[in-house]
Amino acid sequence: MSERTESTGGFHDPVLAREVMEFLSPSGDGVYLDGTVGGGGHSAILLEECASCEVIAVDRDPDALEAAKGSLASFGARVRFIQARFDEALHSADLSEPLAGVLLDLGVSSHQLDSDRRGFAFRVGVDLDMRMDGTGAGEPTAAEVLNSESEEVLARIFHEYGEEPRSRRLARRVVERRAATPLRTSDDLVAVLYKTLGRAPKAKEKARIFQALRIAVNQELTSLERGLTEFREMMAPDARIVVISYHSLEDRLVKNAFRDWSRSCVCPPGMPLCTCRGAPLGKVLTKKAVRPSDVEVRRNPRSRSARLRAWRKG
Ligand SMILES: C[S@@+](CC[C@H](N)C(=O)[O-])C[C@H]1O[C@@H](n2cnc3c(N)ncnc32)[C@H](O)[C@@H]1O
Repeated sequence: MSERTESTGGFHDPVLAREVMEFLSPSGDGVYLDGTVGGGGHSAILLEECASCEVIAVDRDPDALEAAKGSLASFGARVRFIQARFDEALHSADLSEPLAGVLLDLGVSSHQLDSDRRGFAFRVGVDLDMRMDGTGAGEPTAAEVLNSESEEVLARIFHEYGEEPRSRRLARRVVERRAATPLRTSDDLVAVLYKTLGRAPKAKEKARIFQALRIAVNQELTSLERGLTEFREMMAPDARIVVISYHSLEDRLVKNAFRDWSRSCVCPPGMPLCTCRGAPLGKVLTKKAVRPSDVEVRRNPRSRSARLRAWRKG
């Protein structure tokens, strides 16, 4: 593997890089979509290994896209950059041929986690922003979500996206707190969590709540669900889609989509005759999710929760 793949300027050490290339199997002069280009680590390997391939490099985060433009500059016109959510990125792109493959490496990059500005991960005294699309994006910030959503919606966010056992109590405390003073910073949220638990929250309890809010602010599951269906339609026969998830909800969504696409019949149970498509749309390439090796986890601890799944169009 080249030096470029070992270091992407501190931006993101590409997770499961070898496995991604094996499943994607880039060849010929195909056009590949990297829907989450981040620092460009995976795309750089793809472009190096397949000398005539092209990449459409998408990221919703303007900082990430700038970093990718720098790290992939040497590939010149073989890369096209689009700043957008991946499920919206190809609406205006003039695709002259079906996609030869798609890669989604979900979640946030190491750079986003380490950058103070948007408060993706818990850190003392940062504003609760969390918008991947950048601080100038018109979408609500994490603070606005906390200060405006109903108690029920907040409880659902904490429960579904954070698997927080005290989701209802926490939501009630947020609503009580904001009636006095709106929440603004990470410390405000941690103070509410402290009150809910009656003790100092552990690091993993804080991480769960911050992750839940991030998923809600960025509508991450909606984007994934829409993107998967759209890409399947845009892919050429034999093209592969490879997804790396870091959260069980994402992984379940990917697993179920790939399984449903690979069924020959999707009629509701009890139908006397098959009236659906009657043939699988493709094949699951990963019976079980592929996990990083111990060596990779030691080298890059943030790969620990990664799960890779791949599907080939029929
Ligand atoms: C784990 S990093 C990807 C790292 C990249 N594979 C690399 O090798 O450098 C995830 C990136 O996906 C972006 N992202 C997450 N969800 C997205 C979405 N729905 N649409 C576009 N970009 C997204 C994030 O902004 C982040 O830069």
